[in-house]
Amino acid sequence: MEVGLVVLCCRERPRSRTDERFPRNPSEGRGWATIRGMGQKIAILGLGTMGRAIAQGLLRAGEATPADLMGTVKHGRRAEERSAELGIAVGTDNVACAREATTIVLALKPYHVGEVIQELAAAGALDHGPRIVSLAAGVRTSTMEASAGRDLPVVRAMPNTPARIGEGMTVVSAGAHATDEDLDAAEALFRPLGRVTRLDEEHMDTVTGLSGSGPAFVYVMLEALAEGGVMMGLPRKVALELAAQTVQGAARLVLETGRHPAELKDEVTTPAGCTIAALMMLEDGKLRSVLARGVQEAARAAKELG
Ligand SMILES: NC(=O)c1ccc[n+]([C@@H]2O[C@H](COP(=O)([O-])OP(=O)(O)OC[C@H]3O[C@@H](n4cnc5c(N)ncnc54)[C@H](OP(=O)(O)O)[C@@H]3O)[C@@H](O)[C@H]2O)c1
Repeated sequence: MEVGLVVLCCRERPRSRTDERFPRNPSEGRGWATIRGMGQKIAILGLGTMGRAIAQGLLRAGEATPADLMGTVKHGRRAEERSAELGIAVGTDNVACAREATTIVLALKPYHVGEVIQELAAAGALDHGPRIVSLAAGVRTSTMEASAGRDLPVVRAMPNTPARIGEGMTVVSAGAHATDEDLDAAEALFRPLGRVTRLDEEHMDTVTGLSGSGPAFVYVMLEALAEGGVMMGLPRKVALELAAQTVQGAARLVLETGRHPAELKDEVTTPAGCTIAALMMLEDGKLRSVLARGVQEAARAAKELG
């Protein structure tokens, strides 16, 4: 596999003063495990939206060198493009890639996961006992273990697309044979991409419906807010900037103060003012239950994928 050139840069992440309330990562305070420290060699099978985000995040943060990473895609032409873009070895041979890895990241569509694990198992590419980290929505660790036909350490992870700019939210959960070390290793993959937390696997479909699908819900809200401004005469570009910064600022206020959104909402809501007038209308339109039901529906759909 051909290796291209890559530019590395390191970025310090500012710590908020309320990190204790909403720690960015569960391992904070006990010393982070790192890819390099653990001597991991990582194969990312599926360098699409999410697989690329992981590779770029690790390289950008200096958590991994190009030699620590390799990956695959389906199409040969795409392999060349990805290799040139990321500066890592990229091919189309999952078996060859997996054989060399201590951690195999499955960043494939859910319906490809079972067949690829079976392909690896049949070729003996899992005989050295690598850990598997799967991003696939809805695919249970027990299903992956069954596809492998052996007791493999499997970690299920659910990131989201803001991971591309280091503002993602990832939840990791351990399969039956995954240890704390396996969770540490999985966490190290996602830490450069934003916040990471751990939950039991029973919650993963709900996580998919909330933080996995959630960016799409927020984009619809952003579009609607901006259109309200356009409706009242704001230039579209300005309206979108106002909406996006407002959503970002409000969300960060929740994370950085640890205060309940209802309390922060009350601060904006002057008696007999314009905000309460609008809130009444949003309640009439059932905005609150529509959003909550959206998460419920996405979680239900995620469960059916498995
Ligand atoms: N996108 C999200 O917001 C999001 C969020 C959380 C979790 N996830 C999960 O992440 C996984 C990947 O999603 P995505 O959005 O990154 O998908 P994507 O952009 O469509 O990427 C899929 C990649 O898999 C490659 N591929 C397909 N079949 C393959 C095979 N047999 N062997 C090796 N590579 C193969 C494709 O190669 P080609 O480019 O050559 O076709 C492509 O690079 C999914 O399971 C999804 O549930 C996604």
